[in-house]
Amino acid sequence: MKAATAVAVVVAVAVTLGMVATLAEAGDNNRVFQPCADAKIQRGDGFTFGIAFSTRESFFFNQTQLSPCDRRLSLASGANAQLALFRPKVDEISLLTVNTTSYPAVTNGGFMVAFAGRKYAARSLPAFVSNSSYTVTSFTLVLEFQKGTLQNLYWKRDGCASCSGKSNFVCLNKQECAIKTSNCKSANQGGSVDCSIGIQLAFSGTDKHDAVLNSWYEVSNLQQYSLYGLYSNLRNSLTSQYNKIF
Ligand SMILES: *[C@@H]1O[C@H](CO)[C@@H](O)[C@H](O)[C@H]1NC(C)=O
Ligand SMILES: *[C@@H]1O[C@H](CO)[C@@H](O)[C@H](O)[C@H]1NC(C)=O
Ligand SMILES: *[C@@H]1O[C@H](CO)[C@@H](O)[C@H](O)[C@H]1NC(C)=O
Repeated sequence: MKAATAVAVVVAVAVTLGMVATLAEAGDNNRVFQPCADAKIQRGDGFTFGIAFSTRESFFFNQTQLSPCDRRLSLASGANAQLALFRPKVDEISLLTVNTTSYPAVTNGGFMVAFAGRKYAARSLPAFVSNSSYTVTSFTLVLEFQKGTLQNLYWKRDGCASCSGKSNFVCLNKQECAIKTSNCKSANQGGSVDCSIGIQLAFSGTDKHDAVLNSWYEVSNLQQYSLYGLYSNLRNSLTSQYNKIF
């Protein structure tokens, strides 16, 4: 894909609660490093957001889904909740990974919510990650900005196009490809697949100077797993293993 090779791609690796790079990189003028604070970004800035992993119910208060930054959700004290922080560059297609071998608790609750902001508290719907039967390993997350302020975070599904015809994948709810959790090589599973989570990011909308963020158009043309191909080491650990067993 022509567009993909022209785009610099960043791989961010999930870190546990509270750890995120505190030094801005060159070209990054966004001084906001906390996910629960409001930032106004321009193209090329870093942007900090979080992904909370927990049970579906834990993201709701009184039947309303709140931002994980909201203290009324007791995510921080919840036994199963895990937090990963990321700081991708705005408008660069990025592939984030969460290593579920190192952080098996990530899949314990079964759902994840992406979030950022306080006054403009944006959060995604909870996305199913894993239960004892199925595990979803590939996601696309769209971050939508308006004049540099995050408005919306949503999961883009491919309707199982990427796994149609692959017998070891199951299509869940006609939306996303999952593999059997028994194939996963996590703490209490005997399988051989590294079921680490990969999240492709795309940016849409406008930055604070009204410049259009268009990495979205590129990612919408990419197929699931396509970014993995750009990283030989990730490809080896995340995709060639699929070829082995499928
Ligand atoms: C829960 O929601 C209902 C209906 O929206 C409202 O009347 C009630 O006051 C809420 N309870 C709390 C504890 O916020
Ligand atoms: C995850 O961590 C395990 C153990 O540290 C390592 O063997 C594996 O290669 C890692 N997977 C990825 C995708 O980085
Ligand atoms: C696991 O999740 C799938 C998809 O949401 C659901 O159909 C299935 O009933 C769940 N299984 C268990 C054991 O919770």
